[in-house]
Amino acid sequence: MGSLRHSLLRTGCSGFGPGKVILLGEHAVVYGRAAVAGPLSRGVLARGVPASRCSLALPPSLKGPGRGVLAQAFARAAKACGEPGVRVSLEGDLPVSVGLGSSAAVSVACARVLLAASGRQPTFGRVARVALQMEREFHGTPSGIDHTASAQGRLIYFRRRGGAGALVRPLQSPRPLKLLVALAGERGPTRLWVGALRERVRRWPRRYGRLMDEVGRLADEGAGAIESGDLEALGDVMNVNQGLLSAMQLSSPPIEEMVQRLRSMGALGAKLTGAGGGGGAVIGLFLEPERVVAKLARLGIRCLGSQLGGPVVL
Ligand code: MEV
Repeated sequence: MGSLRHSLLRTGCSGFGPGKVILLGEHAVVYGRAAVAGPLSRGVLARGVPASRCSLALPPSLKGPGRGVLAQAFARAAKACGEPGVRVSLEGDLPVSVGLGSSAAVSVACARVLLAASGRQPTFGRVARVALQMEREFHGTPSGIDHTASAQGRLIYFRRRGGAGALVRPLQSPRPLKLLVALAGERGPTRLWVGALRERVRRWPRRYGRLMDEVGRLADEGAGAIESGDLEALGDVMNVNQGLLSAMQLSSPPIEEMVQRLRSMGALGAKLTGAGGGGGAVIGLFLEPERVVAKLARLGIRCLGSQLGGPVVL
């Protein structure tokens, strides 16, 4: 029995999964194009206590079919870890089902606890493999960017390769890269929007292929802008990406309204993040988002600021 498992049996253990934002390239990443994503400071904490069997305490706030899906997802991850004797509970401060990677955060947090409980070091590779089992239950055929960004816990360039593999490269920003995340309107499940786009791609592969190619190029340009500290160029790339997401019918009036609002408040760039659709999270790149966060909060808009990369300013 490993020392990790010994210590769990004595004291229990915990694992954190941060939420994520996709800065550039959502949806096109499903089709093998590049994307850029990073972790949020908010996320999900999983706590494990020793138990006679492996189980998850379903959050009482989770209603409807989501309960069964979470139970199934956990069962898959538990099986992948040999069903260690641990009772897992979840807590968190991340808005759910708005494009901020709540399912990936749950998956990564659970994977960390299950691996520790089974006596294995929760290395990045192991956490990612177990979390992917859960993400497949939540989303069907995810690109993998959400749980990878959460498991890595740092800004990454990501490109899916054939099979389940992916190219993952950490991105260093010489300047503080600060975002404002604002919530706009209601949103359906990710798989709905991914499925609707898949249908259009199937019918008109060449037209959508051209759009995807351009989104992939934008992700490459954005990664270059991040690494050279050119936040103005990064903002412009984000704006153009938003235009292409809109062309792919993944935007909506509440999203467009929030995008325009953030730009008018000084955002260098603004776009939807995640699956988009009817509503959900919109991100704005700001040099100093704190003042705008306070202003929007006073208007009753749910929002938060987060530093995604670069030197931490104390
Ligand atoms: C969802 O956060 C991101 C999408 O690109 C889906 C995926 O990558 O699996 C829309």
